This record gives sequence, structure tokens and C-alpha cells, in this order.
Amino acid sequence: MSKNWKRYTITAALPYANGSKHIGHLAGAYLPADSYARYLRLRKRDVVFVCGSDEHGTAITIQAIQENTTPRAIIDKYHVLIKNSFEKLGISFDIYHRTSEPVHHETSREFFLDFYNKGLFREVTNEQYYDEEQKVFLADRYIMGTCPNCGHEKAYGDQCEKCGKSLSPAELIKPHSTLSGKAPVLRPTKHWYLPLNDYEPWLRTWLLRDHAKDWKTNVYGQCKSWIEGGLQPRAMTRDGEWGVKVPVKDAEGKVLYVWFDAPIGYISATKQWAMDHNKSWELYWKDSDTRLIHFVGKTTSCFTASFFR
Ligand code: MF3
Ligand code: ZN
Repeated sequence: MSKNWKRYTITAALPYANGSKHIGHLAGAYLPADSYARYLRLRKRDVVFVCGSDEHGTAITIQAIQENTTPRAIIDKYHVLIKNSFEKLGISFDIYHRTSEPVHHETSREFFLDFYNKGLFREVTNEQYYDEEQKVFLADRYIMGTCPNCGHEKAYGDQCEKCGKSLSPAELIKPHSTLSGKAPVLRPTKHWYLPLNDYEPWLRTWLLRDHAKDWKTNVYGQCKSWIEGGLQPRAMTRDGEWGVKVPVKDAEGKVLYVWFDAPIGYISATKQWAMDHNKSWELYWKDSDTRLIHFVGKTTSCFTASFFR
């Protein structure tokens, strides 16, 4: 017998506030989520439908560098634009929040500290590429150079798009930063890693056994191959100024990794909605009679991929 749910929390993926969105986003996540929320409301169910702007991360900082402006200016422009488009399209979010809001920063810091205090992170210092002119550490795809395999001059630090070979920036011939054009230098930097590999057993059971029937075939196949390929520890912090500050000692100039804080955005959006409507956010997130459903659209696999990679 199916469970008699008392209430529903529905989330739709938080769009990056760095550009206008297209019909594919709408069809993939927002329209299905909206139809479902409307259906439940018609059936007189207790529903909260949350979404908002994802306003941190490299996507936004790089956009700001390229447009010669600040991350704040980028998010303020696109948050309003995207929020208004959703309104005009009639998507019935109960709240369209922002990850730049204080309640989100506080909630994300709480999560980080909780992990930290439980000893779930591993502190690791290693060398990463740095752009001395722009004064930023460079993600692999912001480094370009000549492919050691085929000689293509515009290979990226993670892959050559001409011959398809996976690369690391160290393998590139004449590497340069796509931001300044200068050769990147290696610099040591400390980060807090979450050993995803330690979670492999329960994740495997949960994903591939307990919920096997819930996924579309391609999603199931993709998850299975990631797990089979072995999960790697992943840094939950990044160097930079833009984002949620890492709330521990010796972490100046470091912020939470955007994929750590963004999903917490669903919770902070619910908190804000609850404050505005005199409700309890906890009922919508912690009660076992609440059904939680995430709509993530067809880009799921790639953003999940970026998490596990
Ligand atoms: N901002 C991401 C994207 O546009 C989606 C974030 S969804 C969340 O691809 F779960 F992290 F919130
Ligand atoms: Zn190549």
C-alpha cells in the first residue's frame, strides 16, 4: 500500500544566476515540477514548492571577470531577470529565493561545521594552478594549451576537444590561463575534502538496489558506472572571495564549494518561506510523513557528473 503522505516538499533545481535560461530548462525541470505542485494543490494537499537562484561558484565569478564587472552585479541582474520570467510563465513557486541571502549563508555554514565537528572532512594541501595576474586559482577548463596527443593548439586543461583525450593541465604544452593569457603557476593550497569513497557502500545500496526502479534507464546506467568506476574524495572548499566563507580557523580567502552550498539552498528557501508564513520549516524537511521530491531536469546527469568527477 502506498503511504499516506501528510505534506509535500517539492524542489526545482536552482538555476545559476549568470545568464538567461532557455526553453530546455523549462521543459526539463520547471514545467513538470509546476504541474505536479498544481496537481497536489488541486487535491488539497499541503505543498511547498521551492526554488531560487544559485549565485555562487566559478560560473558566476568567471562571468564577472569576462564582463568586467562584479559577481554581485551579475547575480543582481540575472536573479531579477530569471525570477520575472518564471513569474510571467506562471510557474507557481511558493518562494523564489537566493543563495546570497544571509539565511542561506548561515544554514550552509551550519552544515559545514556539523560535518567538520563530526570529523567527516580530511584536510589536504596540494598544488593547484594559479593565475598571478587575475589572482585566482584556475579550474582545469580555464587553462588552455597544445594537446600532447594531436598537437591541437586549443586543448583545454581537462580535455582536448579535437582528439577527445582526457588531459590534466600539467600535460599541456605551453599552458596559459584563459583569463589573462599568462602561464599559470603552481601554488600550494589547503582544502577540506569529503571522502565520497567512504560512502560508496550505502550509496550503492540506496541507488542501485533500494531505488533501482525509480530511475530512468540512462540515469541508472550513469550512476552505476560512476559507482563502479570508484568515487574519489572531493574538496568541499575553494579558493576565492565569492561564496559562503569557510567558517573555521585558517580559512581566509576560502569559500564553500558551490555544489556543497547550492543543494542546501532548498532548505534555506524553505526556512525563509516558513518565516514569512509563520510555519515550521522543519516539518517540511524532517518529518517522516513529508514526501520530498526533487525535480532536476535533463541536465541532472551532467551536474551530478561534475560533482562526482
Ligand atoms: N545551478 C545548477 C545548474 O544550473 C543547479 C543547482 S541545483 C542544486 O546547473 F541542487 F544544487 F541546487
Ligand atoms: Zn588532441
